[in-house]
Amino acid sequence: MLVNVHDFEAVAAARLSQPAYDYYRGGARDELSLRRNRQAFADYAVHYKVLAGVKEVDLSTSVLGMPVSMPILAAPTAFHGMADSGAEAASARAVTAEGSLFILSTLSNTPIEEVVQQASGPVLFQLYVYKDRGVTRELVQRAQAAGARALVLTVDAPVLAVREKDTRNRFTLPPGLVLANLTGTGKETLDGGGLDTYVQRHLDPGLSFQDLEWLVQQTDLPVVVKGVVRPDDALQAAKIGARAVVVSNHGGRQLDHAPATLHCVARVRQALDPGVEVWMDGGVRRGADALLACCLGARVVLVGRPLLWGLAAAGETGVRQVFQTLRAELIEAMLLTGCSRLDQLSPDLVERL
Ligand SMILES: Cc1cc2nc3c(=O)[nH]c(=O)nc-3n(C[C@H](O)[C@H](O)[C@H](O)COP(=O)(O)O)c2cc1C
Repeated sequence: MLVNVHDFEAVAAARLSQPAYDYYRGGARDELSLRRNRQAFADYAVHYKVLAGVKEVDLSTSVLGMPVSMPILAAPTAFHGMADSGAEAASARAVTAEGSLFILSTLSNTPIEEVVQQASGPVLFQLYVYKDRGVTRELVQRAQAAGARALVLTVDAPVLAVREKDTRNRFTLPPGLVLANLTGTGKETLDGGGLDTYVQRHLDPGLSFQDLEWLVQQTDLPVVVKGVVRPDDALQAAKIGARAVVVSNHGGRQLDHAPATLHCVARVRQALDPGVEVWMDGGVRRGADALLACCLGARVVLVGRPLLWGLAAAGETGVRQVFQTLRAELIEAMLLTGCSRLDQLSPDLVERL
């Protein structure tokens, strides 16, 4: 019986090839930040209210003006085709059917046009900046023309950190899977090599705030900056025009000494004008984790691996079940905390132990 996200991971582990499972679950180097993200949720206690008269919980909110049914969204993750033949189209159908929104990775196995077409709600496009600005511009234009509702610029991957499990497995994309947003550019395969080699060859390691400025000028879409842990970086991104920042360390897959993202949320929130949204990801495995993050100032959280476990365990249905499980857990946590709406979640409810 699949009761929680960990159960979905166990089924996914049994169904995936070892290299695919290791690619999805792994972190950088000693996997310190991977573990830290998760452990941080145990560092807080919730001082719940009693006799609050909460009969019903309303989890609805909005991001960048788009309504969502709960504050749990899909993080962009590469290569859904290794988990299920429906790949990102199946994930996007599932996530949007749950009233959440889907962020498609640049490195997807399904093109943005098909994903937007199959989704019943908003799809955002996560952007990696290629050294070849022509390719980057084409990606932006393609995403915009396809109907993506925002661009999520990932800024924590100037190089790809080594994930040693992938090195040992000589991880590469299985035959038949390509980078579907890059067909026709000569950059649509890993050429049998690792993702780190691909990133080194094609992505721009020298990305700067000037490039963020460039991107904001390129597009009418809202720009979200993903991968920030410092308040000063968040502030500068907002000054340049970012409409939201994602407090993220790439799920513990980049700098291995990065802080737990949950510990960074409050400071980033304090540094920004209220009009700039703070999203957070890293280690969210329970509905109550979303409650903690929202108490500390996140508007929403994103989940990366949990979606992949659902997809690998049972395709589109599995992803829906994972989102439903997290929703039910969050409702339970809200009721037990004595809160009926997300705007009642505030820092005074939590104590860092
Ligand atoms: C298998 C995998 C692939 C990922 N691919 C991308 C990507 O293509 N672009 C990106 O911005 N982040 C990527 N991420 C990071 C996620 O967007 C997100 O920050 C992270 O997964 C959140 O942590 P969680 O997995 O603990 O929920 C990836 C993460 C994983 C686990």
